Amino acid sequence: MGATHAVAMAELGHEVIGIEANPDRLRDLQNGVIPFFEPGLDEALQKVIAAGNITFKPDHDLESLEADIHFLCVGTPQLPGSYAANTGYLRDAVKALAPFLREDAVVAGKSTVPVGTAQELTALLAAEAGFAPHLAWNPEFLREGTALEDSLRPDRIVIGVNDARSEELLRQVYKSITDLGTPFLVIDIPTAELVKVAANSFLATKISFINAMAEVAEVAGADAVQLAEAIGYDERIGNKFLRNGIGFGGGCLPKDIRAFMARAEELGVGKAVEFLADIDAVNLRRRDRVVEIAQRELGSLQGKKVVVLGAAFKPNSDDLRDSPSIAIADLLKKAGASVVVHDPISLANVNKQHPHLTTEQSVELAAKDADALVLATEWQEYRNLDPAAIGSLVKHKLLIEGRNALPVEKWQAAGWRVIALGRNLEAVAQ
Ligand code: UDX
Repeated sequence: MGATHAVAMAELGHEVIGIEANPDRLRDLQNGVIPFFEPGLDEALQKVIAAGNITFKPDHDLESLEADIHFLCVGTPQLPGSYAANTGYLRDAVKALAPFLREDAVVAGKSTVPVGTAQELTALLAAEAGFAPHLAWNPEFLREGTALEDSLRPDRIVIGVNDARSEELLRQVYKSITDLGTPFLVIDIPTAELVKVAANSFLATKISFINAMAEVAEVAGADAVQLAEAIGYDERIGNKFLRNGIGFGGGCLPKDIRAFMARAEELGVGKAVEFLADIDAVNLRRRDRVVEIAQRELGSLQGKKVVVLGAAFKPNSDDLRDSPSIAIADLLKKAGASVVVHDPISLANVNKQHPHLTTEQSVELAAKDADALVLATEWQEYRNLDPAAIGSLVKHKLLIEGRNALPVEKWQAAGWRVIALGRNLEAVAQ
């Protein structure tokens, strides 16, 4: 997120210094390479480097004293063995910044945090710097895959402030975006902290809602895709984020709902967001469902070859954090299947982060003699597959459609038995 925000700020014409402590990532960024897959971002980085708007450094130095705004963009991952978010990287960032912070400069947090974190950081920064800092919270809402576009043309900009200086500087920073008519909300800091977790909790709830409907549809002979379309025409409901399938993953939604539950518990209002435990549970059950279907169709999975198409938590990303696709590959393997994972972009990450999983560079190689294919990440490459050609390679033409993204009729016409999550295709399946 930090790299995207840095590039976006430079693209708006600001002079940006990016602090990156990891030496590999730093070298990449200095060479105009984004150290993760994000469409369009490398080109944008190279453009702002060439324009002289951005530099990257491992640490603060005297130049940081010239900065008017310091954005905090570090990660807040789930703490091991707990639901809570790890805010330690933020504390480290604030301590490292303190000696290089001018008294009139503004510190704007962008990381997703438990409500109350900004207050803690303000106290820490005050103790370290020796003056009361201008600290604001400015959540970001970018999605992987469209990160730069989401940064430059956001639905809204939210700033939580409790001093005029912070509001004034943040207004200036985002002026070229707000001039285009983008809503600019100035609110208090705790609300700004909550906005992000509330938004992500709502999105997670929408997805688990339709996945809960899919569970019902599967036993009732109904179709959750048609159901989503039918309820989505109601503008109050809307048709977005109602795609049923193997559920949500990634570095945000799963850990954000868990961190929210943990923080609410600390605040004595655990009951208020207790429902998020169900949202999480519905989401995780969808992964098991894929294994159940495979077992129902193939009997014991012992020695059966199952190909998992897609490893990233969503297309146009190489992010494997909490990826349902990886979780399903693991579950199938545990059930005895011989699992082969394919992904157009993220195989290097799979090999590095999940070396126990077998990967294959092409769908064709992966599909050879397979007993089943599982569509786990809806990459365009998979939508374009020729079901007849792939069908000639496999042992069994069984497709478990985990994302409801493929042209099912085409696959059925090529002789495939297609089981799609939440759908009632069996009547027409061959
Ligand atoms: C999310 C929020 O959308 C973004 O606003 C926030 O800033 C960060 O977290 P991101 O994690 O990039 O963004 O992915 P998103 O597009 O929200 O998808 C999250 C997961 O939900 C993916 O695994 C996706 O496959 C799944 N999903 C999404 C569904 O299963 N069904 C849907 O209808 C939509």
